Amino acid sequence: MDRLIIRGGRPFSGSVQVAGAKNAALPVLAASLLVGGRVSLSNVPAVTDVGSMLDLLRMLGADVTEAENGRLSLSSAAVAGSEATYDIVRRMRASFLVLAPLVGRLGRARISRPGGCTIGTRPVDLHLQALKTLGADISQDGGVIEVAAPGGLSGARVVFPTPSVGATHTAMMAAAAARGETEIVNAAREPEVADLAAFLTAAGATVEGAGTHRILVQGAQSWRPVAHTILPDRIEAASYMIAAGMTGGRVEVMGGRLEHLGAACQALEEAGIRIFPSDRGLIAERDGPLRSVDVTTEAFPGFPTDLQAQFMAMMCLADGVSVIRERIFEARFMHVPELQRMGADIRQSGSMATVRGVKALHGAQVMATDLRASMSLVLAGLVAEGETIVHRVYHLDRGYEDIDGKLTRCGASIERVRG
Ligand code: UD1
Repeated sequence: MDRLIIRGGRPFSGSVQVAGAKNAALPVLAASLLVGGRVSLSNVPAVTDVGSMLDLLRMLGADVTEAENGRLSLSSAAVAGSEATYDIVRRMRASFLVLAPLVGRLGRARISRPGGCTIGTRPVDLHLQALKTLGADISQDGGVIEVAAPGGLSGARVVFPTPSVGATHTAMMAAAAARGETEIVNAAREPEVADLAAFLTAAGATVEGAGTHRILVQGAQSWRPVAHTILPDRIEAASYMIAAGMTGGRVEVMGGRLEHLGAACQALEEAGIRIFPSDRGLIAERDGPLRSVDVTTEAFPGFPTDLQAQFMAMMCLADGVSVIRERIFEARFMHVPELQRMGADIRQSGSMATVRGVKALHGAQVMATDLRASMSLVLAGLVAEGETIVHRVYHLDRGYEDIDGKLTRCGASIERVRG
């Protein structure tokens, strides 16, 4: 397993091109199963989760051609497989996103129930609720979920008790394949939901209200070939802004968009990082000492759970005490013991962590546990005294494109040891 060796203490400065958002690319790729004609995508990030989704699509019978620079083209004309096995779902939870398009396309699907993961239990009840409301029969046998809608899905009113990004994606894809109109109430409002809506609309469905609590979908009468550009990755953008803030550097994140990062930018500014727009994205630079800020993760437009670990790494070095509350995933604090190994003063109690800023972090051997937790360790390594070795880097490769290259080009001393 690869590991990263980081020698801390250099300012992170320069320009970084933000990749396409993994969390937008995965649902759009899954939704491609609905489209009979050719789908051409740009700005697809070169990360291993996308590779896993492409493997799954090929397994189901899709014809995928990958080109350079984030472009790919695929045709689902020959898709006949309707099963996603445990092997693939275990590798990547987002494999579950193929369920609705398979049911919409073939009238049936079998998929392994995803297990828990390091950040919490992560149920799929809301995905299944949406499919059931649209007329699918659902049965579960051991770890396998079987969904059938032999007469097709029918538009209906789906009311979510709580907003879920994945379940909103599932509901939109099912609704796009259904006869008639679907209303999705208490939908997730994340930019990645609007990106899938734009894709489905370009391909032949009509989706209105994405980005608000209420989405209206008219099922597609027919599907047409579609070209779509994946939106930039707001979490990657903010992670590099934090890198500049922690190390006292200045970075331009090309492709960063303020409207996707309102709550995050507000917290960063309160922490002492100046953020302003450039022609190509956003510029972030440290403006004086780091200050402690309290944050609570919330659904969009609140502070994203996917930035909680990175923000905590920064708070480890801020003046004062910061209280960080995790409201989305109950167990998303796997980075805490690893940051403590580097000298951080963090006390965790349930879903709350209290971080008391220290003067310096020191290099240590640390273990990446999940995607965002891993990034927090890299960020801590950039500023720590001495050498930090981050083990199990495959977690980072799942969601950060060319992480070693991007860090190196902005002045970090980072080396990947393969094996
Ligand atoms: C997506 C993102 C992930 C991000 C998360 C929250 C992808 C591939 N992943 O995950 O990076 O951290 O949004 O922004 O886009 N829930 C249920 N029942 C369900 C589904 C979800 O109770 O059927 C709960 C979850 O346990 C969680 C909350 O809803 O507490 C929000 O989760 P959700 O928005 O669904 O996250 P994902 O779509 O899995």
